[in-house]
Amino acid sequence: MIEIYNISVTLSKRRILDQISLSINKGEFIYLIGKTGAGKTTLLRLIYMDILPDKGNVIVDQFSSSKIKRRQIPYLRRKVGVVFQDFKLLEDRNVFENVAFALRVIGAPRRELKIRVLSVLTRVGLHHKRYRKPHQLSGGEQQRVAIARALVNEPFVLLADEPTGNLDPEVARNILGLLETINRSGTAVVMATHNYDLIRQYPHRTVVMENGQIAKEFSAEQIRSNS
Ligand SMILES: Nc1ncnc2c1ncn2[C@@H]1O[C@H](COP(=O)(O)OP(=O)(O)OP(=O)(O)O)[C@@H](O)[C@H]1O
Ligand SMILES: [Mg+2]
Repeated sequence: MIEIYNISVTLSKRRILDQISLSINKGEFIYLIGKTGAGKTTLLRLIYMDILPDKGNVIVDQFSSSKIKRRQIPYLRRKVGVVFQDFKLLEDRNVFENVAFALRVIGAPRRELKIRVLSVLTRVGLHHKRYRKPHQLSGGEQQRVAIARALVNEPFVLLADEPTGNLDPEVARNILGLLETINRSGTAVVMATHNYDLIRQYPHRTVVMENGQIAKEFSAEQIRSNS
């Protein structure tokens, strides 16, 4: 479903990722861990093709980094949802509009748009707060809006770059619970995190990055038996 074949990435003349290969299967849940600067964000950017590798190849669904045309990127982005540590919501729009935005840009019919937005807001538990603006929500609620926005196009994978980085521990567990529910319904999740407590509480395959390479990997079982 996602195949990363021996890729290298150079940015500003620096080798940031070095000969990485990784397969992500349909419906998997994977953590990416590693010290700051190890390359987690860069690897996620590669998967949503915000950057392209200078060596190797990334295959996401039917898209290949070596063949993709600029005009195809929006189609790829419908298959790959992304959430960030700082939510990146539109502050002047309410919850409904933040989620609807992704459907408006693809010209979804008004009735279908409304049904899909309300349904995804129900999934993240925010249907009743759909007229609030982001500043009227807690951090955890804002992240739920961002997750709803990432899911509204029904992607097959959700990429989350430190989604709990700005949240207190209880709210972070809550968000993990939501990501697990989403994962159980069939969407793969790839999450970069520094939060090892969360990994112990919600064990999944864990890929460890070091200096732009994959240093090692643990299965969910290995994490369970170590904690
Ligand atoms: N556009 C860029 N130009 C030059 N160097 C970059 C660029 N983007 C990232 N880097 C460098 O690449 C390395 C990896 O960065 P990346 O953001 O992927 O790390 P990370 O593992 O996500 O770190 P963190 O845990 O702090 O988020 C860092 O040394 C960073 O300074
Ligand atoms: Mg990062």
